[in-house]
Amino acid sequence: MTREKKIEIAPPAKLGILTVGLGAVSTTLIAGVEAIRRGICKPIGSVTQMATIRLGKRTEERNPLIKDFVPLSPLEDVRFGGWDVFHDDGYKAAENAQVLGKEHLDELRPYMERIKPMAAVFDPRYVKKLKGETTNVKQGKSLMDKADALMADMDAFADREKCDRLVVVWCASTEAFLEQKPVHKSLADFEKGLKDSSPEIAPSMVYAYAAIKKGIPYANGAPGLNCEIPALQELADKTGAPISGKDFKTGQTLMKTIIAPGLKARMLGLGGWFSTNILGNRDGEVLDDPESFKTKEVSKLGVLDYILQPEVYPELYKNLYHKVRINYYPPRGDAKEGWDNLDIFGWMGYPMQIKIDFLCRDSILAAPVALDLALFMDLAARAGLKGIQEWLSFYYKSPIVREGLYPEHDLFIQQTKLKNTLRYLMGEDLITHLGNEYYGF
Ligand SMILES: NC(=O)c1ccc[n+]([C@@H]2O[C@H](COP(=O)([O-])OP(=O)(O)OC[C@H]3O[C@@H](n4cnc5c(N)ncnc54)[C@H](O)[C@@H]3O)[C@@H](O)[C@H]2O)c1
Repeated sequence: MTREKKIEIAPPAKLGILTVGLGAVSTTLIAGVEAIRRGICKPIGSVTQMATIRLGKRTEERNPLIKDFVPLSPLEDVRFGGWDVFHDDGYKAAENAQVLGKEHLDELRPYMERIKPMAAVFDPRYVKKLKGETTNVKQGKSLMDKADALMADMDAFADREKCDRLVVVWCASTEAFLEQKPVHKSLADFEKGLKDSSPEIAPSMVYAYAAIKKGIPYANGAPGLNCEIPALQELADKTGAPISGKDFKTGQTLMKTIIAPGLKARMLGLGGWFSTNILGNRDGEVLDDPESFKTKEVSKLGVLDYILQPEVYPELYKNLYHKVRINYYPPRGDAKEGWDNLDIFGWMGYPMQIKIDFLCRDSILAAPVALDLALFMDLAARAGLKGIQEWLSFYYKSPIVREGLYPEHDLFIQQTKLKNTLRYLMGEDLITHLGNEYYGF
């Protein structure tokens, strides 16, 4: 059966992807997309570029690539820009980040050098551990002036690069832990707070406000409140901007959301899960500050509770001891090593252990996530999906949801939701894996 399509086939003209922060994740994203465009490498890790989607019954054998099925912006039509508190261009920033090898950096150098960061909205109270002079910073009278300046940056970028659509992705440092305050509750209070430069408004919220106000999709790749406040959700509902977050799901949390649903599916118990890691990039350094670590810790800890449902399965998961540690260890750079110890138990309560030693590369895992989010958020905007985009929970450690709902953390449920949303948008039947003809109903 064919249903009505919710989106036009061809994406119009160019898409600008603006990253807040030109650090390890964003430079790896930008360099990777350019390398793919030049045929130097394949888009490994990107669902939008490499995954297929099954349509209709298995017997129909319709399995197009997602990028051929939904009208995503082709990579050739993507343009990059962004903001950072340092003046380093894309090449210098990528070199500092030490994610990519010299062979890639040399070849991409002229392209990366053209990416010049625009002046940032910054407040050192929210990121204490950045080394060096943060001189590429906007000087407005109030936070509202700075939001206006960001909106002017977006317009100027779109003009310069001939983009008719933009997406903003927060790839900047993790900000200090901040709880929701009265100034975040309503749009009116928030706008007053911007005019009064309220210290309870973090820089990330100023970027989010500027993008959402213009109806531009905004994705948050870091932990922290950021766009997840009622005031900005109210604004998104008003302007129609899609928003999503938070904290790119990579590394240890990705492993957690792959393994925990499997253990639960087989009704195996868990007594403890200890995760620790060492990393030495700038992100690790920022997370060395207890206030930024607290933000990250909250984002990482929630995952298991939602997947395992200890209230439904108390015999299996009620006594789970879950601990997460992040250790800044400069010699490792971006090549993080994460260790997990799982104390599980099985038939008749007999204990077993699982050990994971994941020698990962943080930004290599994060870059395709940032790309997919940017392309899907643009798709959402064109399809008229406004506000929180729960179907993109697949990509986040700590998915944001509408008030009254709980987040879905199970990677496989998240994947089903993502693919079914694409089928829905394109007027295809949703797949339930229940072939009526074989069951006689
Ligand atoms: N790498 C991963 O796998 C991963 C996974 C999940 C989340 N994240 C999050 O993504 C973010 C980026 O990670 P990264 O490894 O690229 O970090 P990074 O430190 O290399 O880059 C962050 C950049 O943001 C800049 N910055 C800080 N505050 C800013 C502001 N107000 N405006 C503009 N720029 C600002 C910094 O100068 C820096 O260049 C971090 O918050 C991190 O926690 C990363």
